[in-house]
Amino acid sequence: MTNIFDALKDSHQKQRLLIDALLKTSGDSHTRREFYQQLKTELKDHAIAEERFFYKPLIESDQTIDLTRHGIAEHHAIDKVLAELDDTPFDSPAWLTLMKTLEHKVSHHLEEEELRFFQVAGKALSERQKTSLAKKYEQHRDR
Ligand SMILES: [Fe+2]
Ligand SMILES: [Fe+2]
Repeated sequence: MTNIFDALKDSHQKQRLLIDALLKTSGDSHTRREFYQQLKTELKDHAIAEERFFYKPLIESDQTIDLTRHGIAEHHAIDKVLAELDDTPFDSPAWLTLMKTLEHKVSHHLEEEELRFFQVAGKALSERQKTSLAKKYEQHRDR
């Protein structure tokens, strides 16, 4: 059975692939528009589901409250860059610069979640919670 960490990592991998692909696009192309739309949806849906089904039980514990609050702040920082990208024409040189900023913030965030947060959470959550949260996260994602 899938646990919450595998479910979250699936989306992280998708985010990484889309950002890599986007950094190789140029100008106002169909590919750039299409991948950007996919990335935005992935980032936003993931952050909401992650906060609801992963951060939420962890914000209640002294061990994990700081990591949770930090993670939520990073989700906001990522949203801010997305909003700037939305306001920037696809063929502007500033677009690629912003995409690099996004890449930087997202890869830092994912690394911190996977290497630090998931380790601490692995101890704070029961095995049953890990699978039931994965189920809820996936139901929400596929709705
Ligand atoms: Fe995540
Ligand atoms: Fe996150």
